[in-house]
Amino acid sequence: MLAETILLEKTPATWIRAVLDDFDAFLLDHAAAERKASAMAVSFVVQYPDRYALHTPMIRLAREELLHYQQVMALVHERQLIWERDVKDPYVAALRDLIATEREQRLLDRLLVGSVIEARGVERFGLVGAHIEDAGLARFYTRLSKSEANHADLFTRLARHYFDASVIQERLAWWRERETEAMLAVPPRAALH
Ligand SMILES: [Fe+2]
Ligand SMILES: [Fe+2]
Repeated sequence: MLAETILLEKTPATWIRAVLDDFDAFLLDHAAAERKASAMAVSFVVQYPDRYALHTPMIRLAREELLHYQQVMALVHERQLIWERDVKDPYVAALRDLIATEREQRLLDRLLVGSVIEARGVERFGLVGAHIEDAGLARFYTRLSKSEANHADLFTRLARHYFDASVIQERLAWWRERETEAMLAVPPRAALH
């Protein structure tokens, strides 16, 4: 499934305005999001030692997200920004709270949540790339949008490795609705979510 087709609802236009109005705050939040994405990929390997098919792709994903973190941190340093204490991402937290606790269902949910979050990243990095004036940053965010698309595909591919298509389809339909609710519940602000 193409990342763009996963999203039921577009990000409101007020979001990109909030981001461009305080791009420094956005960068700090974005850096944290990349770091958390990397840690999340590692946690799949740690929590599913018996699911070998996850290991290499998740380690590769962790490295790529960490590279994104490094790249965003370079921008943070260039601007001499200083971050405050780490804060919870309310959108990610709302989705994670809905993940099932039963082991098998939990794996499916975690993969599908990964997929919808990455799909939102495709859209939002694409918006930053399209609207930001600085040409270098525009290129950087357009590139990030493409790599998020690969990540969204990776999560759905791994779900297909372990679960039936019909099970995935039904649960993904449910997650797409929850993603829309979680996205709309957070007022537009200078943050990735
Ligand atoms: Fe990333
Ligand atoms: Fe990603």
